Amino acid sequence: MLDFKPVGDSQITLTELMIPSYSNFGGKIHGGIILSLMDKVAYVCAAKHSDGYAITASIDMVNFLAPVEVGELVSLMASVNYVGKTSMIIGIRVVSENLKTQVLKHTNTSYFTMVAIGDDNKPKQVPGLILTSQDDIRRFSQAMDRKQLKDTYKKEEAMLKKVYDRDSFLEVLQNERCQISL
Ligand SMILES: CC(C)(COP(=O)(O)OP(=O)(O)OC[C@H]1O[C@@H](n2cnc3c(N)ncnc32)[C@H](O)[C@@H]1OP(=O)(O)O)[C@@H](O)C(=O)NCCC(=O)NCCS
Repeated sequence: MLDFKPVGDSQITLTELMIPSYSNFGGKIHGGIILSLMDKVAYVCAAKHSDGYAITASIDMVNFLAPVEVGELVSLMASVNYVGKTSMIIGIRVVSENLKTQVLKHTNTSYFTMVAIGDDNKPKQVPGLILTSQDDIRRFSQAMDRKQLKDTYKKEEAMLKKVYDRDSFLEVLQNERCQISL
């Protein structure tokens, strides 16, 4: 396995036609179909970078920015944004094209953390990243910032759990749209 690999070596686009069986009761494409395609493209990108099997550890920020219609062509562009020791953050941009009008819309951007798994079923080291463009550098830096934010959030969440006080929580809930029925 190489020590470092260029981002471009594992960049990939997955394209799929949105057929009627993918739609929900409202006639739009199920969010779960898009998520499943995102997981697939993240896997391929991570497997290409790490030369092997990878597993989804977490998914950050899935916002559905616009509905996807039956008959549209969805393209999911994935690239490794950042690597740690055994983990890789894969950035995915989803674009949907109306084949009649050729109008493109950006429907999702998300970040999947994939962990490379070795033959012993344990996380294995992945190659470092060779950044060959301004976009590569920007994505790597932004991934570092998001990782730091996530770590801060995790610490704060752990602190909140420690100071959980039932009475003060009940007070806060009085301003919310809920009823307590114990
Ligand atoms: C992901 C998994 C392999 C990590 O195993 P682990 O024993 O926690 O391994 P480690 O603590 O050594 O972490 C390995 C790497 O994963 C990263 N990681 C672990 N959990 C993570 C999470 N929830 N989010 C982001 N990164 C995570 C660690 O930061 C570490 O990264 P690094 O090596 O680049 O520093 C393990 O938690 C797992 O198998 N989870 C289930 C995954 C799964 O079933 N996915 C399919 C979902 S349907």
